[in-house]
Amino acid sequence: MCGIFAYLNYGVNRERRYILQVLFNGLRRLEYRGYDSAGICIDDSSSPSPSPSPSPSLLPSPSSSVNGCPPLVFRQEGNIESLVKSVYEEVAETELNLEESFSIHAGIAHTRWATHGEPAPRNSHPQTSGAGNEFLVVHNGVITNYEVLKETLIRHGFTFESETDTEVIPKLAKFVFDKANEEEGDQPVTFSQVVVEVMRHLEGAYALIFKSQHYPNELIACKRGSPLLLGVKLLHQELNEDLNNGPALHDDKFLSKNGHPKELFLSSDANAIVEHTKKVLMIEDGEVVHLKDGAVSILKFDNAKGRNGGTYARPASVQRALSILEMEVEQINKGNYEHYMQKEIHEQPESLTTTMRGRLIRGGSCKAKSVLLGGLKDHLKTIRRSRRIVFIGCGTSYNAALAARPILEELSDLPVTMEIASDLVDRQAPIYREDTAVFVSQSGETADTLQALEYASENGALCVGITNTVGSAIARKTHCGVHINAGAEIGVASTKAYTSQIVVMAMLALAIGGDTISTQARREAIIDGLCDLPNKVREVLKLDQEMKVLAKQLIAEQSLLVFGRGYNYATALEGALKVKEVALMHSEGILAGEMKHGPLALVDENLPILVIATRDACFSKQQSVIQQLHARKGRLIVMCSKGDAASIFPGGSCRVIEVPQVEDCLQPVINIVPLQLLAYHLTVLRGYNVDQPRNLAKSVTTQ
Ligand code: F6R
Repeated sequence: MCGIFAYLNYGVNRERRYILQVLFNGLRRLEYRGYDSAGICIDDSSSPSPSPSPSPSLLPSPSSSVNGCPPLVFRQEGNIESLVKSVYEEVAETELNLEESFSIHAGIAHTRWATHGEPAPRNSHPQTSGAGNEFLVVHNGVITNYEVLKETLIRHGFTFESETDTEVIPKLAKFVFDKANEEEGDQPVTFSQVVVEVMRHLEGAYALIFKSQHYPNELIACKRGSPLLLGVKLLHQELNEDLNNGPALHDDKFLSKNGHPKELFLSSDANAIVEHTKKVLMIEDGEVVHLKDGAVSILKFDNAKGRNGGTYARPASVQRALSILEMEVEQINKGNYEHYMQKEIHEQPESLTTTMRGRLIRGGSCKAKSVLLGGLKDHLKTIRRSRRIVFIGCGTSYNAALAARPILEELSDLPVTMEIASDLVDRQAPIYREDTAVFVSQSGETADTLQALEYASENGALCVGITNTVGSAIARKTHCGVHINAGAEIGVASTKAYTSQIVVMAMLALAIGGDTISTQARREAIIDGLCDLPNKVREVLKLDQEMKVLAKQLIAEQSLLVFGRGYNYATALEGALKVKEVALMHSEGILAGEMKHGPLALVDENLPILVIATRDACFSKQQSVIQQLHARKGRLIVMCSKGDAASIFPGGSCRVIEVPQVEDCLQPVINIVPLQLLAYHLTVLRGYNVDQPRNLAKSVTTQ
């Protein structure tokens, strides 16, 4: 759960200052993936020993037995800005020339979310092969067999300085390199052969970028399980335009030939690439991408094909086509907002519109009458024939599925069960061939969800993906699916993805429901509701200032309970999750039907309790919950439908949040918005980092 980034300029002069800026900006774009430490590696062609007395973060000077100038490594605890500051301080101290120009330069960078070893310079990446930085690696993922590899390498004389799993990788590369050169004599081993040999020993999940002093100006990227993209920017205008018309990596003209000036980027996700180029290659598991002499070659690593009589493997080369990113730079900027979370909450009318675009089909009366989900149309019959639908996800994505469950049950007439991904795997719960397993994930990369997907797939279920990330592992590994098209979500707390996920699952229910006559009126009412939903969200967003005032009243509280039921049990869970994760306030979502079975004991005149009581089939039950809480002097905040404020609470006064009423199954989309705003304002007022909550990261690619 880290971000890795690399920048290689070929045949175009770039000053060190510019190269540093590109690397730092890349890291800033990836910072949401982890922000407890960071590092970069750049070339040093001017001086073999950049620092007369290296500081702890500037690694030792090289041995003299290797090619080229030793790369410079900078690593720092804290966020990207701490790294930037420390790099410029060291640059000033060591008088490194920022104006020095490179016609080829290969820099790598990393932002970390600690898994093995505390945040500290020694545990930050790039991790190195040891003194001299012969091999350097940035890594996203977890190497599960690192302890065995470490023991072996220690027996061969290596010493380790970090507690990371990653450190075995550059050391293994050096071991392989030295051994190959002994064995192969005058036939020098290539960089890709070294990396393929290293991959052969690695277990676990990884996206890796290698840099080596032995192979100056080259980079190698490879992956298994964790995401990695290559971005290609050709600096020859005509070629670039040609590429726009028919992107083809297998066309020699563009990439496989040396000589065309170009800039190449490697990144954990598209956010760090889109400001440079939209032409990308989604690197597949097992692929080894070698950037050398301005060419890009792709090899397919096949673990089954071992080494052949001492000769290092030359894996088959593969041809791949580039794709064009469907995102705009504006999407990844904050615009006029102070925080990404704030921006993403406020752009929900637009994100919902995009989610529904082209999917609601108009009927004769010019009104939308049916739903078309292209990614599912060939599988709807199978889904309808399934024995049950199982929703699987984590965190907010799980909550979104929970919000959609009732409408799925109603329109599909199938049992719908819920599984938290990690729990499904822990229990090895029964999943059958006749099941439809729906995997919900914003990032499409969550390790727990991916593992559950592998498990369900092995058990023969039809696997459907609902993700926000085109080309993500979940999108690729499911049999079919729907993209929610909410646009890049950068705030670590999920907001707009949640509402788009609910809308996609409501459309899924409509699609499965088909054209059953008995539910036609209901389906049409939902479709009309969907069409009007962005306007209603616009309306509910006007509660922003009211939520800020409420946040001021709650600023010093220790805890907040949120009661919901029916469609809005999920709203209670999700609202509480938002408050908990960003405002760092204890908050619990409670199924109101369970109130008398325990939670009531907590009620007193101090603890704030928010009750969701908008109009639906559960309304009268929620009214009685309010009365019972009031009778016990509960400190109530009630969310109700517009116009209900006066009647909801006869005989007493309490704080009321009035929201627009929509079709019951879409009400969770409306009701979550004030709670998102509340969590946002509470966080700002309490002085916490909104977009990078403590200890969290956006995509949880480790278990
Ligand atoms: C909370 C949040 C997390 C994610 C969870 C699953 O705001 O963002 O709970 O929802 O980690 O992530 P995805 O949806 O990427 O699988």
